[in-house]
Amino acid sequence: MSELRTFLTFVAGIRRRKLTFARDGYLRGDLNARLHLAVGREDPYALYDRVRAAGPLVRTRSGDWVTADHQVCDTVLRHRAFGVRPSKLTVDDALADQFEVSFLGMDPPDHTRLRRLVQPFLGPAQVTGYAPLIERATDRLLDEAGPGNTIDLMAAVAGPLPMAVMMEMFGVPADRRDAFSRSAAVVGSAIDGIHSLTHAARLRDASLELERLFTDLFALRSREPADDLISHLVVQPPGRIEPAELLPLVNLLLVAGFETTVNLIGNAVLALMVHPGCWDALCADPRGEADAVIDETLRYDPPVQRAGRLALEDVEVAGRHVGAGEYIFLLLGGANRDPVAFPNPARFDPGRPRTTAHLAFASGIHYCVGQPLARLEATTVLRRLAERLPGMNLARPVRRRTSGMVRGPRELWIRRHT
Ligand code: HEM
Repeated sequence: MSELRTFLTFVAGIRRRKLTFARDGYLRGDLNARLHLAVGREDPYALYDRVRAAGPLVRTRSGDWVTADHQVCDTVLRHRAFGVRPSKLTVDDALADQFEVSFLGMDPPDHTRLRRLVQPFLGPAQVTGYAPLIERATDRLLDEAGPGNTIDLMAAVAGPLPMAVMMEMFGVPADRRDAFSRSAAVVGSAIDGIHSLTHAARLRDASLELERLFTDLFALRSREPADDLISHLVVQPPGRIEPAELLPLVNLLLVAGFETTVNLIGNAVLALMVHPGCWDALCADPRGEADAVIDETLRYDPPVQRAGRLALEDVEVAGRHVGAGEYIFLLLGGANRDPVAFPNPARFDPGRPRTTAHLAFASGIHYCVGQPLARLEATTVLRRLAERLPGMNLARPVRRRTSGMVRGPRELWIRRHT
């Protein structure tokens, strides 16, 4: 009964937030709220420009702050006066009530302790070891994409690849992978927001199922450790990780690493298909060009569009006084289009000089720990597509996801050959 009450309170919270966004966005002209509405999801970049034009740090109708300024975003992300506890308003907050987000939702010293445990598994050297697996999996998925000339790249490759890599990294036994992938994909979709009562119910069922699967896997790897991330976590001496921290940690890796990578692949292919000159340049030199295309995609159309930070004490930012307990929405996608940091920012140009770092992976202590893996997966897919299907092109207009947080194509239909 109390579980039902929690669930209904949770769903009511989502509804309330939706209404608040609609009221503030449509009736009160609040640009930050508009980003959560259809208009903002379709083209957030126009709204980011308006936020930036209003000032480097702008008050919202809800009493929070918002910024699309590259320097301000970077400063806040690196500033010790800010922490990661969520605001009272965001949909992300509703998720945080439902799912613990492990060290992404923690400040030091707990953040440092848990991040250090997974970092060795996701560092560049370790990740390079996954290169052959990623290449084999990409080729297998392309081979199995079906006989027709037209395929949905999201369903055929961009979705299954990150999941297959994650299963390998976690050390999920072969006979459990289908069950894991099914539940993990639903749980991973939580990052995209909760769209309906049905979605919320599916999410709850999938997270219970995933919890059961992970609990079995923790027990298996405690008895029979192998060379994988779960074994590494379950054999830690006392004090490094509490048993209750295990499940949130692996869930974080799933949620943070799945939809993000899926949409990086989708956004990169989409950008290339609508900029045929860039696609031709990639096909002429797939190995040499893929890194630059991925980096430019991360700047131009990043999968994670926003982050947020809570002021832990009174602090001065961009000439404004931010009080302790006040929240700043950091529009990462807007920071990446700040003309001060990136000349001609609306132009997709993989050849642009890399003098300023984009914020697609944030910055500061929460800088994405999975970025080497995400880059490797995405560059491998682009390279193999360019090598195998240089004649491919867009087969249908693209439908975007409906989330303001994660940006990417819902489906991406391509013709393999013209
Ligand atoms: C294109 C793909 C990805 C993008 C755009 C992305 C983006 C981000 C961003 C923006 C943050 C910071 C969030 C914040 O500070 O509020 C973050 C953190 C994080 N990401 Fe990623 N991510 C990607 C892939 C991955 C992958 C593949 C993994 C794991 C396998 C991963 C695991 C994490 C974790 C664990 C954190 C929390 C780091 C911390 O709190 O110290 N991410 N990511």
